[in-house]
Amino acid sequence: MKIIGTGSALPEKVVTNDMLAGFLNTSDSWITTRTGIHTRRLLSIETLEDLALKAARAAIESSGIQPEDIDYLICSNVANSYVSPSLGSMLLSPLGCCCPTFDLNGACAGLVYSLDIADAFIKTKKYRNILIVAAEEPSRFCNWHERETSVLFGDGASALVVTDGEGFMDFRVTGDTHTDVLYYKRALESTPYDRVEDKTEPLVMQGREVFRLAVEASIEDVDVLLERNGMTGEDIDVFLLHQANLRIIECIREHLDQPREKFPTNLQNYGNTSSASIGILMDELSRAGQLKDGATLLLSSFGGGFVTGAAILKWSGIQY
Ligand code: COA
Repeated sequence: MKIIGTGSALPEKVVTNDMLAGFLNTSDSWITTRTGIHTRRLLSIETLEDLALKAARAAIESSGIQPEDIDYLICSNVANSYVSPSLGSMLLSPLGCCCPTFDLNGACAGLVYSLDIADAFIKTKKYRNILIVAAEEPSRFCNWHERETSVLFGDGASALVVTDGEGFMDFRVTGDTHTDVLYYKRALESTPYDRVEDKTEPLVMQGREVFRLAVEASIEDVDVLLERNGMTGEDIDVFLLHQANLRIIECIREHLDQPREKFPTNLQNYGNTSSASIGILMDELSRAGQLKDGATLLLSSFGGGFVTGAAILKWSGIQY
């Protein structure tokens, strides 16, 4: 499987750390030193569906194939305003695609989870051209009266078109149960058989524990992938890591002992956009001509669950 099209979209509203310090007990210096984040984009005048459509259209256009030639749409999304229908279903007609779709909740690892499934579909020749859209609005999960989580996230969407070809070399996806460290819980309706006093609980996160799990799990994925493919960090040209926290990326980089230039970041501008983050970074770098034809890329992501997804691929240049 190879990537033949990329796209991304971000909300217009730019929110600085100082703007957050206007109503939360936080500061630009705390957020910058602990996370590396300077600004994030938050949905205000658009919807998540708008972002998802914009990213998907850009990916399809750059792929050179027609919307009707998309055989499957996998939509990576933790949650949006609809539980049903799926976000993927809502995108099909506006895109001009007529194909099966489902939403995949792989938390922040959802894009790599989606790629892994697409790879299996393509390898079995069941489907050929697959559109993957990762669209996330984590700002809608946070309690905006609390400083612990709300400062970390941003909204955004990315999209990839993949098809058969030489590109992806290997995947490693994992899962484990650590519910308490990171969760967002919605209220259930009462039934005649079970009356519940349920209420939605905004995102709860044990930051330090998530930090530890993220670094450990990502390092394990990267080490296993490199070893399995007879490679070392030297053989990787670009590491595209989940954009959650600059310090997490730095821990992984230090373990690999590779130069900073190999670890591009954009979390400074967008915060943690959950499963959309690696796709947004890939799209920006690719459009800026910073991913060279034939370059070896390593993707690594992690998120609530706890889940992880990593992959190694050879990049083939895309004409925009
Ligand atoms: N502004 C100012 N102070 C804050 C704050 C904020 N936004 N959020 C927390 N604090 C305070 C805490 O209350 C604590 O105060 P105390 O020492 O008086 O108790 C202090 O800062 C240090 O908190 P701590 O949790 O130890 O900080 P940290 O160095 O671990 O950084 C995170 C906190 C959340 C930035 C960091 O743990 C992290 O990035 N974790 C991973 C989060 C993540 O990536 N989640 C998504 C996974 S997909």
